[in-house]
Amino acid sequence: RESAGDREYIAAIDQGTTSSRCIVFDHDGRIVSVAQKEHRQIFPRPGWVEHDAVEIRDNVREVMVDSLEKAGITRGQVKAIGITNQRETTLLWDRATGEPVHNAIVWQDTRTDRLCRELGRNVGQDRFRRETGLPLASYFAGPKIRWLLDNVEGLRERAERGEILFGTMDSWVIWNLTGGPDGGRHVTDVTNASRTMLMNLRTLEWDERILHSMGVPAAVLPEIRSSAEVYGTARGGPLDGVPVASALGDQQAALFGQTCYSVGEGKSTYGTGTFLLMNTGEEPVNSYHGLLTTVGYRIGDAKPVYALEGAIAVTGALVQWMRDQMGLINSAAEIETLALSVEDNGGAYFVPAFSGLFAPYWRSDARGIIAGLTRYVTKAHLARAVLEATAWQTREIVDAMRKDSGTELTTLKVDGGMTSNNLLMQSIADFLDAPVVRPMVSETTCLGAAYAAGLATGFWSDTDELRANWRRAAEWSPAMAEEDREREYRNWLKAVRRTMGWLD
Ligand code: G3P
Repeated sequence: RESAGDREYIAAIDQGTTSSRCIVFDHDGRIVSVAQKEHRQIFPRPGWVEHDAVEIRDNVREVMVDSLEKAGITRGQVKAIGITNQRETTLLWDRATGEPVHNAIVWQDTRTDRLCRELGRNVGQDRFRRETGLPLASYFAGPKIRWLLDNVEGLRERAERGEILFGTMDSWVIWNLTGGPDGGRHVTDVTNASRTMLMNLRTLEWDERILHSMGVPAAVLPEIRSSAEVYGTARGGPLDGVPVASALGDQQAALFGQTCYSVGEGKSTYGTGTFLLMNTGEEPVNSYHGLLTTVGYRIGDAKPVYALEGAIAVTGALVQWMRDQMGLINSAAEIETLALSVEDNGGAYFVPAFSGLFAPYWRSDARGIIAGLTRYVTKAHLARAVLEATAWQTREIVDAMRKDSGTELTTLKVDGGMTSNNLLMQSIADFLDAPVVRPMVSETTCLGAAYAAGLATGFWSDTDELRANWRRAAEWSPAMAEEDREREYRNWLKAVRRTMGWLD
């Protein structure tokens, strides 16, 4: 009989916005152990968000150690390491010492909004969208690199001399895992590269003309590879000698983990932000309704699979804000209890445009508002408005998806931390007028990275084998009267309009 000691596993590292995690999976795609560590959110000015990349590097190492310990396995039993990560968050570091030249600029950060407007005027919105699939917005990595080169003294010269490396968190983690200054691999994958605003969506290579317009020297950029292949081997550390065999941006990883391998299949992940992605097949589909065109995944030499994405900047982050900045709740879970203590939102609507508005508006000049206040409104009504904000934003994305793809959404597959909130899941089903389903393994982000690493190393043979692991755990059915839904939606849209135009 096989004992735990003989079995093989895949370790997936998820370097996320608020924490780093390592999850060990077995061959059935089941979770064997989880280790997680939060890192500091640094807010130096209104609209700015930074992370300390050294803290993140150390946390990643720590969660690797912890997850192996909890699983009671040795590194010899780990067949491969998969990487997934918060996307767009931008870091530049010194190639020789491995020291970051500045804190990482997080995807939510709006410091480049003026720069983006300037680029729009001088180069044109359409140029960027045509080549990269993305609207000019402070969300993406390219403008953040430019900001660092313009604002850290002497950095541009050092970058041009080849002394500086750029990476999103996948590159930073892989470079450090595979040796750091001592031969670390400077790579990224197509999904992460598709969020830099510097990659040509069709050739899947850095676009020289875009680099020129953005003012980013090619010398800083990593090599673009597929999402599932062996990039190198971990050197030193808890997983010394194990191949590093996948990288996907976290939302693309969730798409992969939810086994959305056919055209028209999609998922929505409810985390710090919310991201709804739909598989559109081997050709990129242009969006005319405020969605992003992005790479879904690419397995080794196979053709890339593209996706349409609706990105919402602030969902779980709003609950955290209610807890940490407002002190209205003590724990994230309390938002549901508080919201359930009243029947409805009491007329209040909360549009959390903290990082401007993402899909489908792409307005960096928007800022958050609470609308419809009267003396009747209590903090419980606000809690309800907080949850409804996530549900209405989902509805707006689904409407845009329908218009862009011509496909009607029959069911929404969901995952992520906020899916444990029943009231939220019910509100989403109600506002979409469609059922919402959650799989047994709701850690689909790590699962997707594990699947890709397992495919690259022969641990799993093909995507059919992975599909067989998907099992339904929960379902919410719509139960809201049409006229209530339409009235509430109109009110929501009215509130959204009032968020715009806060930047001179
Ligand atoms: O695009 C940003 C996204 O990748 C962040 O995801 O789950 O870390 O909030 P998450």
